Amino acid sequence: MKIANRSLDLPLIQGGMGIGVSLGRLAGTVASYGAMGTISAVGIGYAEEDFGKNNVHANVRALTKEIQKAKELSGGKGLIAVNIMHAITQYEEMVKAAVKAGVDILVVGAGLPLDLPKLAEGWDGILAPIVSSKRALELLYRSWKKRFSRIFDMVILEGAEAGGHLGIPSKDMEGFDLLSVTNETKSYLQEVEAAEGRKIPLFVAGNVFDEKNMASLLKAGADGFQMGTPFIATEECDVHDGFKQVILEAREEAVKLIHSPVGMPARAINTPFVQALTGEKLTIKNCMNCLKTCTPASTEFCISQALIQAAKGNREEGLFFAGAGVGKINTLRTVKEVLDEACLFIRRAGGSVRCHGEGSL
Ligand SMILES: Cc1cc2nc3c(=O)[nH]c(=O)nc-3n(C[C@H](O)[C@H](O)[C@H](O)COP(=O)(O)O)c2cc1C
Repeated sequence: MKIANRSLDLPLIQGGMGIGVSLGRLAGTVASYGAMGTISAVGIGYAEEDFGKNNVHANVRALTKEIQKAKELSGGKGLIAVNIMHAITQYEEMVKAAVKAGVDILVVGAGLPLDLPKLAEGWDGILAPIVSSKRALELLYRSWKKRFSRIFDMVILEGAEAGGHLGIPSKDMEGFDLLSVTNETKSYLQEVEAAEGRKIPLFVAGNVFDEKNMASLLKAGADGFQMGTPFIATEECDVHDGFKQVILEAREEAVKLIHSPVGMPARAINTPFVQALTGEKLTIKNCMNCLKTCTPASTEFCISQALIQAAKGNREEGLFFAGAGVGKINTLRTVKEVLDEACLFIRRAGGSVRCHGEGSL
């Protein structure tokens, strides 16, 4: 598949997962099999010694290191992306650091990145917004075109069953139909493609990882898929084994929607931390001002601290993000096994992919 000036053998993306879940090892391994691996930039420097004192430096240094690691591991295959949440205060610094370190793709979600082309000016890489509606995409297209004469190179459409933060208001969550949103987003993209004279692939995410879902989404217009939760339960995932274990043990009914200090709903496993959320303010210690949207004086909890505890495998104090399909994941696999399975599902649904074992990719 062509994406702007790059090519991707497998139309599969390992989604960015912060904090500390998708780093260089996971992203680089995914890329080494011809797919797209994504490093999440959020709180990436949490294990650096100076994280508490010099947060920006720690994050920029760690991001640069993880991109280098991913590129080495990829062996020049696949593509390496960095996912940067628009809601983080260090959004600009992270975009600049990722571009400088030679990443292929900038993926931005958790808010509309109206300013992204300006920050990435002069860079020849791929710009990929994450949206949850056709409307958001229309807005972005009009704004980028008018202000920067630039358009997005690919699109990630994330549905209501994804893990982590969701761009769908809580009130619209129940009626959200990923198939019809995929359909209307694809129709809109086809209009944009006709106007621009180039292809803009559509990747769909959010509990897409079984044969039935993939087959129906391909029919509805998906060109490929992004998956998150299945990659947590892999040998190569960067996160602590305790996090992987929480994913392996969780049943479907163990997933819950919470209200995140990011200002969006988020899907997580119903661990003791989630059960203890009462809506009342907790004491925030050592606030690092990581989010544009959080007010430490009135927020219920510090999301960075809770995600860092999860990254360390702390079952009591950690916040473990996971998608609604977590119950389908029962064994620790390799990245290759996850990719091979997804490739086979696409193949059986009539998608034109060449999977491993069918000649070199
Ligand atoms: C643990 C975890 C952390 C995540 N962190 C981020 C993130 O930092 N930025 C982002 O845009 N999406 C994030 N996501 C969403 C994933 O990139 C992906 O789109 C989503 O997990 C897809 O749904 P699935 O888990 O059902 O496959 C996260 C998801 C999980 C499970």
